[in-house]
Amino acid sequence: MKNKTPILFITAALSALLLGMFFGLFASLQYIFPDFLKEIIPFTKMRPFHTTTVISWIILAATGSIYFFITEVEKIAFRFPKLPKIHFIIFMFTGVGIYLSYIFDKMEGREYLAYTPILTIPILIGWVLFGINYFKTIRKKVKNWPVYYWMWGTGIVFMIYHLCEAHLWLIPSFRETFIKDITVQWKSYGSFVGSWNMLVYGIAIYLMSKVKNNINVARGKTTFFFYFLGLTNLMFGWAHHTYIIPTQIWIRYLAYGVSMTEWVVLFHIIYTWKKSLSPKIIEDNRVVYQFLVAADFWVFLNIILALLFSIPAINFFTHGTHITVAHSMGTTIGINTSILLAAMFFIVSKLKNEAFMFRKLKITYYAYNGFLLLFLCTLLYAGVIRGNWMYFTKDIPFSEMQNSLYYTYIAFFIFGIGLVWSILKIAIVLLKPLIKLFFNTSIKISE
Ligand code: HEM
Repeated sequence: MKNKTPILFITAALSALLLGMFFGLFASLQYIFPDFLKEIIPFTKMRPFHTTTVISWIILAATGSIYFFITEVEKIAFRFPKLPKIHFIIFMFTGVGIYLSYIFDKMEGREYLAYTPILTIPILIGWVLFGINYFKTIRKKVKNWPVYYWMWGTGIVFMIYHLCEAHLWLIPSFRETFIKDITVQWKSYGSFVGSWNMLVYGIAIYLMSKVKNNINVARGKTTFFFYFLGLTNLMFGWAHHTYIIPTQIWIRYLAYGVSMTEWVVLFHIIYTWKKSLSPKIIEDNRVVYQFLVAADFWVFLNIILALLFSIPAINFFTHGTHITVAHSMGTTIGINTSILLAAMFFIVSKLKNEAFMFRKLKITYYAYNGFLLLFLCTLLYAGVIRGNWMYFTKDIPFSEMQNSLYYTYIAFFIFGIGLVWSILKIAIVLLKPLIKLFFNTSIKISE
């Protein structure tokens, strides 16, 4: 393997996952002890450190996987072979810039993009370089694109568009009108997530077709229907983020209608694929299979949760509570992280030339899913208590409500440790061979 940039992306992604989880753990300790590390990194900083780092995990892992699949599995040479390395260097320097901007309190950005907005420029340049290289290469070298090429291409284009949109507030005419400002802000975040979902779900379909050794998994009417539905979601599903804003009523109904559909189809695709596999194929690809099955399970649970709280009346009650956090972490860990871990196992077993033994990972795998379930349940419970306090009680001070959640936060922290422990074990299993292989120049990728 001559070009090791995909390995660099993947190693950086796994490191970001580990670091990001520790920030999350510290943030959860601050729920219990509000003064913990308050002087050095208060919660208002710890949270962006956590969210930015775990989102970087998703972006870096998805990008590295796509680079790897194209160059090492499909054996397609990029039109500009040096660009992936430049892309990586830009992202790493920007990552350092983002941390520095947090450390030095230059946090003029908003929500998930809290860093100083100028840093979005190199991020955009990275995506544009990726996009140019991707389209120039795939357009020429692949005929009759399977759906994952459409999904990756769409993800890249919309990522660029929504990153720009998320910064429209910098223009005074947007910033000065409150409703316009907040609507555009939340719309862009919803679609930003939709863009990385395109990359990650494309990876899931790619893995399914490789495990089954059948490209038809990535072709056909249902699969393309899923793609168009995902695209509709990306463009319109955001509106359930804006229920509390007095916008047009039809926007709410449209949003509710579309935002649930995509997951139902993803669930159906993974479920049908799972049922179509022979025991031999499952055994040969056991670890990748298990993580995709886990993703399917989390899709199912999240559909139920999201179906409920996308109903405007319930959404009103849950907004701004830990129920929203359970939804965000439930999807980014349960669905995105499970699919990306499946991709990491697929890639590392190609590099090692042998499959991972599920037997050795079984306890860790069930611990990962089990702790995640308990972790999310405590968040849901905390959300119900807070929602109840916000809308159905009077004269109870905030501090009293927070105190009543003391043991819930302790449980959240303990289950968080369990989750961190299981992901740490998985990451070590993946990182060890990656680091070894990085220094070995003569890696041959297995067919
Ligand atoms: C793969 C690992 C993880 C991912 C992808 C992830 C993702 C996220 C995301 C997207 C948010 C923003 C939620 C929102 O704005 O609605 C968040 C917030 C948070 N996460 Fe995580 N998380 C991970 C692991 C953890 C762990 C292990 C803990 C701690 C035990 C943790 C604790 C927190 C806390 C305390 C918040 C802030 C919630 C608030 O605003 O009150 N996370 N996480």
